[in-house]
Amino acid sequence: MASFKALLPLAVALPAVNAWGSLGHTTVAYIAQNFVCDKTAKFAQRLLNDTSKAYLANVATWADSYRSEPGGQFSSVYHYIDALDSPPKSCNVDYERDCSEEGCIVSAFANYSSRAFQQDIGIVEQQKALKWVIHFTGDIHQPLHVENIAVGGNLINVTFNGAKTNLHSIWDTAIPQKAIGNFSQANALSWANNLTSEIKHGQYKKESRTWLRGIDADDAVDTSMVWARDANKLVCTTVIPNGPDAVFAQELSGAYYETAIPVVKKQIAKAGYRLAAWLDAVVEEAEKHGHKHENSKIVKRNEPKLEPWMEEARQARRDFGGDCGCGLEEHVH
Ligand SMILES: *[C@@H]1O[C@H](CO)[C@@H](O)[C@H](O)[C@H]1NC(C)=O
Ligand SMILES: *[C@@H]1O[C@H](CO)[C@@H](O)[C@H](O)[C@H]1NC(C)=O
Ligand SMILES: *[C@@H]1O[C@H](CO)[C@@H](O)[C@H](O)[C@H]1NC(C)=O
Ligand SMILES: *[C@@H]1O[C@H](CO)[C@@H](O)[C@H](O)[C@H]1NC(C)=O
Ligand SMILES: *[C@@H]1O[C@H](CO)[C@@H](O)[C@H](O)[C@H]1NC(C)=O
Ligand SMILES: [Zn+2]
Repeated sequence: MASFKALLPLAVALPAVNAWGSLGHTTVAYIAQNFVCDKTAKFAQRLLNDTSKAYLANVATWADSYRSEPGGQFSSVYHYIDALDSPPKSCNVDYERDCSEEGCIVSAFANYSSRAFQQDIGIVEQQKALKWVIHFTGDIHQPLHVENIAVGGNLINVTFNGAKTNLHSIWDTAIPQKAIGNFSQANALSWANNLTSEIKHGQYKKESRTWLRGIDADDAVDTSMVWARDANKLVCTTVIPNGPDAVFAQELSGAYYETAIPVVKKQIAKAGYRLAAWLDAVVEEAEKHGHKHENSKIVKRNEPKLEPWMEEARQARRDFGGDCGCGLEEHVH
């Protein structure tokens, strides 16, 4: 693990990035706040030292700033998993194959879900862990964060409302913002409350029961792999149903947007609902059994170096200059 890190350029100039955009991430956190049980809310408020009405929402995008800060760059690879599938022919995620030794969103979700309860690492590390869990639950629901092709769609140039951008970026930001408006905390709150009522008594009422399948407080890897596979399938059905060439250089704010937006809304709703259920489950588990120190599944691979395709994927990301090129959004901090 360390030996590969040494090969990375020490200071990569990363563009301002906000996977799912601030709007998406903040909305996911607000939805989770609407569903967590009191015990979970208290745990999070105490740990984050924030009893405001935005205690989860306030930290939802921290991970995207932290990864471009000195000392935070190791966490950059934790925002995605490079699923080596062949969309649109076949979509799949394989933890053994796709999660490199240096980590990926699935191993990071597991690691930080556990560290959030680990008092011996100190309050600051515990806080970071919870902030990562909140953020990564959002990212793992963005189909292009669970896809290797063209650096997660970053190399697929497109235009949106006439502006030059790329496929990854529009899924993060432009598509949700076209529907909801630019990011503000108030806007995210309003969207979250709308999606919450869709879950409670609207269009998602029936299927939302199935969204919690596979949640197992003892197994964060299997839990987040269910979510990863779920989002990755959408790469084949919705993101590039006719392959990358069919969207390359196309204007996507019309028919493509109309097909994508219901999927984006549902993914944001799912992420928030699942985040609440996950936090409830791990808070409950920690209360019952105390923190368990084994995390046997987090790193399964023992190869001393990355496989050639993974090395290529990493190089492509470095060449691109980051892990996500969110061209349309001003950095909000
Ligand atoms: C908690 O927040 C309060 C008010 O924002 C601040 O004064 C205090 O120093 C914080 N405590 C810790 C432990 O961060
Ligand atoms: C878990 O997180 C800590 C703190 O960020 C990090 O040092 C460690 O490498 C991580 N472990 C794995 C297996 O990802
Ligand atoms: C995609 O756009 C970027 C940025 O404008 C540009 O550097 C790159 O050459 C384009 N890629 C292709 C394949 O046209
Ligand atoms: C959103 O922000 C962009 C860029 O700052 C701006 O051009 C646009 O007018 C804003 N849209 C709305 C609806 O406020
Ligand atoms: C939420 O729903 C209300 C009532 O339908 C609507 O006016 C508002 O624009 C919606 N908010 C967002 C952010 O979609
Ligand atoms: Zn991210």
